[in-house]
Amino acid sequence: MSTSRHTVAVIGGTGPQGKGLGYRFARHGHDIVLGSRAAGKASAVADEVNARLVSVAGAGTARGAANADAVASADVVLLAVPYDGHDELVASLQLAGKTVISCVNPLAFDKRGAHGRVVNGGEGSAAESAQALQPEAVVVGAFHNVAAPALWGDE
Ligand SMILES: NC(=O)c1ccc[n+]([C@@H]2O[C@H](COP(=O)([O-])OP(=O)(O)OC[C@H]3O[C@@H](n4cnc5c(N)ncnc54)[C@H](OP(=O)(O)O)[C@@H]3O)[C@@H](O)[C@H]2O)c1
Repeated sequence: MSTSRHTVAVIGGTGPQGKGLGYRFARHGHDIVLGSRAAGKASAVADEVNARLVSVAGAGTARGAANADAVASADVVLLAVPYDGHDELVASLQLAGKTVISCVNPLAFDKRGAHGRVVNGGEGSAAESAQALQPEAVVVGAFHNVAAPALWGDE
């Protein structure tokens, strides 16, 4: 059980990375609100997470919401969306005063497969872009190299 309990909004919480990280936060006593562009889709994913938390002593809870509503109810916000459309989404959210964690890898997908995108001439990152867009939030980058299957796995 964590010593301080947070409500963590997961933007893009219906994807494998957001669901997996949200599950891990909830396993350790935090309440999570999985965000989506479609609240009903997030609620269905929250049901999956809650089903896995039933037997975990001290676990937090999961629920689903539209992204903006998830942010409004949280003190910590995890960004777990693709890089495409990231800036527009981040700019649209009310993140002032929140602690924001970004696991976003700036990737592009085309006929070459997945490959890295250059941000700010090679000097930037998705987390730094988010910080520039939301100067009144505190943005940190984390979990970029933690793969979703491991987060949702049994260990
Ligand atoms: N997958 C991994 O193993 C892994 C590992 C490390 C880091 N990451 C990073 O974590 C982030 C999420 O990865 P993922 O694999 O979970 O991604 P994903 O499945 O492609 O997308 C996650 C969610 O983002 C929402 N979304 C998609 N496009 C959007 C847009 N244009 N605007 C707003 N929301 C949008 C969708 O939710 P709704 O349709 O419900 O809105 C989707 O379910 C990425 O930046 C990735 O680089 C992933």
